[in-house]
Amino acid sequence: MKFFIDTASLAQIKEAAALGVLDGVTTNPSLMAKEGIAGEERVRKHYVDICEAVDGDVSAEVIATDLAGMVREGEELAALHPRIVVKVPMIKDGVKAIRHFSSKGIRTNCTLVFSAGQALLAAKAGATYVSPFIGRLDDVSTDGVALIRQIRTIYDNYGLHTQVLAASIRHPMHIIQCAEVGADVATCPLSAILALFDHPLTTIGLEKFLADHRKAQQPAKV
Ligand code: G3P
Repeated sequence: MKFFIDTASLAQIKEAAALGVLDGVTTNPSLMAKEGIAGEERVRKHYVDICEAVDGDVSAEVIATDLAGMVREGEELAALHPRIVVKVPMIKDGVKAIRHFSSKGIRTNCTLVFSAGQALLAAKAGATYVSPFIGRLDDVSTDGVALIRQIRTIYDNYGLHTQVLAASIRHPMHIIQCAEVGADVATCPLSAILALFDHPLTTIGLEKFLADHRKAQQPAKV
């Protein structure tokens, strides 16, 4: 399973990339706003900066919600850098835009997906990635990981090539569960990736190894 980081923070992207386990980045308008990135020129420069900080796909979301606007904006975003994947919302014009981008060889990420039917539409339109939001489903007492499993089954039944990109991940167990049910990608906050490192027995074990090594270096008492 690929690991993407879900942030527009260059510092966090660089920290995750330095771990050597990062495969890409996803952003959205809320994450860009959180970093204070505003204005078309600044937003586009920030996307290029992100592309240069990571060796992998970078999702950049369109703001337009009509077909002509999404096509224009998506083509401009895709021209910024070869790593850009155009993120398009799951609405009727969004699916039409995905079909257009797919026919032009422009890669897409269909976002705001909350049902298997939406995921099927995105795949049929030729989306490169589909982004089911598992944390937001859990927030409304619906099993987000179950949706990933359902989409995996449907895509496998028909040999659909769209990659299942589990989004809205909140904690390390979401990452493990997504890997168990066969998500292609998990896009995670840095905190969830870092939490995967932690285990008390690793900490205790390393302390003991180092203490025993230190003891062995003391001169033997006679
Ligand atoms: O990038 C889309 C998604 O990951 C958003 O997550 O935490 O805002 O539900 P969240």
